[in-house]
Amino acid sequence: MTETYMNKNATVAERVSDLLSRMTIEEKIGQLTQLPANVEGNTDKLEEWHIGSYLHCTGDAAMRLQERAAKTRLGIPLIFGIDAIHGHCFDNDATVFPTQLSASSSWDRELMREMAKVAAKEVRATGIHWTFSPVLCIGRDARWGRVNETYGEDAWLIGEMSAETVKGYQGENFASPDSILACAKHYVAYGETTGGRDSYEADVSRRKLKSTFLPPFRKAVQKSKVASLMTGYHSNDGLPCTTDKWLLTDVAKTDWGLDGFIVTDWDNVKSLHTKQKVSPTIEDACYRALVAGNDMMMSTAEFYEAAVKLVKDGQVDIEVVNNAVARILTKKFELGLFDEMRFYSPDRQEIFGNPQNLELAMEASLKSIVMLKNDGILPLKPTKDLTVLVTGPNADDVIAQLGDWSFGSMQAGATNDSFHREQAVTTLQAFQAASKQYGFKVEYVKGADCIDSEFEQVEELARALTQADVVIACVGDTLAQNGEFHDRANLDLTGKQQAMLEQIKASGVPLIVNLVASKPMTIPWVAENANALLCGFNSGTKGGEAVKRVILGEHNPSGKLTISFPYHVGQLPVFYNKYEGWHAQNSHTTGHKERYIDMPEHPLFSFGEGKSYSQFEYSNVYLKQVVIEPNTDIEVSLTVTNKSVIDGTEIVQVYFNDHFSSVTTPIKQLCGFERVDIPAGQSVDVTIKVNFSDLALVNSELEEVVEAGTFSLMVGASSKDKDLITLEFEVTQTTKVH
Ligand code: NOJ
Repeated sequence: MTETYMNKNATVAERVSDLLSRMTIEEKIGQLTQLPANVEGNTDKLEEWHIGSYLHCTGDAAMRLQERAAKTRLGIPLIFGIDAIHGHCFDNDATVFPTQLSASSSWDRELMREMAKVAAKEVRATGIHWTFSPVLCIGRDARWGRVNETYGEDAWLIGEMSAETVKGYQGENFASPDSILACAKHYVAYGETTGGRDSYEADVSRRKLKSTFLPPFRKAVQKSKVASLMTGYHSNDGLPCTTDKWLLTDVAKTDWGLDGFIVTDWDNVKSLHTKQKVSPTIEDACYRALVAGNDMMMSTAEFYEAAVKLVKDGQVDIEVVNNAVARILTKKFELGLFDEMRFYSPDRQEIFGNPQNLELAMEASLKSIVMLKNDGILPLKPTKDLTVLVTGPNADDVIAQLGDWSFGSMQAGATNDSFHREQAVTTLQAFQAASKQYGFKVEYVKGADCIDSEFEQVEELARALTQADVVIACVGDTLAQNGEFHDRANLDLTGKQQAMLEQIKASGVPLIVNLVASKPMTIPWVAENANALLCGFNSGTKGGEAVKRVILGEHNPSGKLTISFPYHVGQLPVFYNKYEGWHAQNSHTTGHKERYIDMPEHPLFSFGEGKSYSQFEYSNVYLKQVVIEPNTDIEVSLTVTNKSVIDGTEIVQVYFNDHFSSVTTPIKQLCGFERVDIPAGQSVDVTIKVNFSDLALVNSELEEVVEAGTFSLMVGASSKDKDLITLEFEVTQTTKVH
């Protein structure tokens, strides 16, 4: 007779309960243990430790481990996790999309979903069922090495983007061959560590956690049913996330009803003892991690033996372990891993490098490009007599263009000639191809290097400049300057990049700057002196082609920044939704004109900013209702007119401000947006709904309430005051939400 847990007709709950009843303590603890498959000795432990999960292992290697797991006493399948965070990038043939920061400039919900769907298919085709994505950290301090992994600086937008990404990965049903588990990380406020230093402590109060950092995670759990959360490396207010029972159990599992499991980040458990020093022993670290509510421990090999002992000695209640095992097994059953899906391996050839996937990558790269300045030089007419000088360290550098998490887990070992080279199009390559098409001339001089501070080609550049009609300078940073534990105290252009730009400027040849970088850089000189400035951050395999299309007017840019650029690193953090206070905006009467005496209060480039070749005009902005009863959503309508002769896309943004409230609130807060395609010369009517609950603040009792009173609603093209039209509405009653 088939055991219930192997009976496909039984419910998942029945199968989990039956399997749990058959498992030994050792088998249970094994399910909670996740080891990196690429660290020597770890795969040898599969049978001995009853390992439940491996990370960083794909394709045939994963299949071989899965076959071994099938032969164990209970045959419990493994679940593999991987950092497929902007495509299944660790696989050379996979589709590499723009990074989260880059793609978020599209403000395109559907695109987020579609990219995740492609990644899910490709991940699944290599025998993996779980990606450690999306990143819900808030990118407010550009010094932080991992800003590229975020959707930018705004918590509300992060919630919107990540909800779509999760839907794309997970689909309707995990048993579908195209679905994988998503993992919302890093729970929580990991981007807020002091000074932008990766994994440092964060000083965030519970009120700030509830008002700013938890909402995107709540959306991922409640709205898109994310299957897993990953705890941050760091501590909040002195408490490591890994030991924070309130955060893991009370908030995520009990209040939000997380229907999934929580995995720690890399070696978080051992770090409680070795780094954060809150645990005098490894056993204590394991104890704390278990009782706080972590279900799976990543990369702490010591966990297995210590946890078995803790349970056998009666120090950890078996029910704590049962609960964690059940959460993991539930997902394994839902994924169909006990049935045919564990060995499901669709034809890789059909999925990888599929033209439709690459078309989507192209679309994503195009939508990610933000035009930050254009004095009229763009679009460039590709006439036959033109000589274009392409220059800069990132003009032909795949590693710099694709950015972090693109080259396997030993990322720094990637070489520019091998990985992803086939499908990648750099700016230089795109212009070389275009020169054949249009008949213009392209010259290339690298000019400077991001890392090698000695490298310069002053003479070669001078020679090329005498022939050039226009220069496209691709500057920024490269992989070695960002990512985990690669924070920067200085965000200026490194090496001789600045000198190179100044040489070009001095020559009088028009200068178009293409910023290929993992983050905002301090480039006021560029903003002032370049004729045009484009920024795609790490804009994916087709990033170079996308920039070329924008420059030559084959594509009308539509991207808008989701992160502000500081003038100077000392100005950080410089996000738009700072709290009411003694800012320039409302301090005229006191004479406090600027916060710093040597620096503007506003950023160099602001959240929501980005230009188009079209000109858009906003009119007829009105609210459906100006008196808002509790739990009634707000509707704002407007007309946007494309006053130009080319079709364009505008990203309409809606912000609000609560005039007077019991606690300080942001001067403005994004609460809605819409990407609108508007044909040349035409007008489009737009209606955007704002959820009543999004108007909430967290009061001093830590309750989420919408307080009665007057609010402003601001509608327009960016977060800058000059781009916004302001209306007012009244909320009639203070109302608790969530
Ligand atoms: C550490 C990183 O912080 C996390 O984002 C990643 O998912 C894990 N390592 C696994 O690679």
